[in-house]
Amino acid sequence: MPLDILVGAQWGDEGKGRLTDLLAEQAQIVARYSGGDNAGHTVTVGGRVFKLHLLPSGILHPRTVGVLGNGMVVNPARLLEELAMLSQAGVEVSPARVKLSAAAHLITPAHIALDRAEEAARGEGRIGTTGRGIGPAYTAKIARQGLRAELLLDPEALAERVAEQIRQANRTLERVYGQPALDPVAIAAEYVDHARRLAPYVIDTSLYLHRQLRAGARVIAEGAQGALLDVDHGTYPYVTSSSPAAGGVFNGLGVGPKFVDRIIGVTKAFQTRVGEGPFPTEAFGPEAERLRGTGANPWDEFGTTTGRPRRCGWLDLVLLRYAIRVNGLTELAITKLDVLSGLPALKLCAAYRAGADRHEELPLGPADLAPFTAEWETLPGWDADLSGARTPADLPPAARAYLQRIEALAGVPVTMVSVGPERSQIVFL
Ligand code: IMP
Repeated sequence: MPLDILVGAQWGDEGKGRLTDLLAEQAQIVARYSGGDNAGHTVTVGGRVFKLHLLPSGILHPRTVGVLGNGMVVNPARLLEELAMLSQAGVEVSPARVKLSAAAHLITPAHIALDRAEEAARGEGRIGTTGRGIGPAYTAKIARQGLRAELLLDPEALAERVAEQIRQANRTLERVYGQPALDPVAIAAEYVDHARRLAPYVIDTSLYLHRQLRAGARVIAEGAQGALLDVDHGTYPYVTSSSPAAGGVFNGLGVGPKFVDRIIGVTKAFQTRVGEGPFPTEAFGPEAERLRGTGANPWDEFGTTTGRPRRCGWLDLVLLRYAIRVNGLTELAITKLDVLSGLPALKLCAAYRAGADRHEELPLGPADLAPFTAEWETLPGWDADLSGARTPADLPPAARAYLQRIEALAGVPVTMVSVGPERSQIVFL
């Protein structure tokens, strides 16, 4: 009865979706436990590109059930759009295959308006949120004022609670931020309509998962965002408002740790970040552009959710070791090794410098990375096209040396390396 956890070991966008999709071949259930439609998972199947924001990537396998756990914040309109998109693409998305936790929280247009108004008011201190209402929805949850998905089963109560929430938010929007008020009656009516369509999906997902695990099902807990965006363990305050690190799985799904088998951390072969905040291994100019790509390919470094160009740099082993520790990672999966082909030399950061001091570990966690500069190790690059590599022997010696150096600095095994966007483009080590 194993639970495998797959988490991002960086600032999100590590390519978790394609790995979940791959591992889902051997799983019965894929469950998301935190975040909302701030996430964007791009999965390529048979040349078709799917961009998922709420549903777990495993849904693209015909026999896998997708669970949206209680730790998530769900925009019902966006969930309906995603269900419709998949249905049109021929993916079956009936309530037999998609389960929404009754205890997940609902995002409303007021959360979105507040997210944008708060972000604008931060000015220079802005976080660079995705503007999807994530922070305000989690704020409401912790303040015990949230709207839970169980309300979708009681349209009358839902209408009342939504209208009340919009009225209350209007006071803040108008008086604090000088923003236009939203229409409580129209939004309540929209939510009643969403409820009609989403009610069949709402269940106690903790009970469902527990029964399935006891019956021997393999479950994958699919992380969104990454450890460095975790509200506790990330680069606070430049974080999201939930717990994407592995510890978030247990609260966010309502299952205990005894089921856990593997905790796989996904990292790119280099480093990227969207939004604001310090980034010690950031590259600039032509180097950054080379890592980012032009945007012509779906896998180039532009946000799946916002389209923003991602900040790009070199792999940061100080942060990776930190992510291994706070997640309890048993192994690493490295994505996008193929992107490094053709670079004459590759840089790795194994330690930071701050004045005369050298740090292999972060003295006070990653909240303030501004004092640190990267100490570089330079390794030789390779020219070969890796897209056809399927076994370690297919990789050029310089690529194997790069992976071995990462493994030595990380202290956990690298078990999988992706060399292209397709399901098959993976090397098991
Ligand atoms: P929020 O989650 O929209 O509140 O945004 C907070 C921070 O997390 C911002 O820096 C976002 O860019 C970042 N973020 C949120 N979700 C993702 C993601 O899925 N990938 C990468 N960054 C993300």
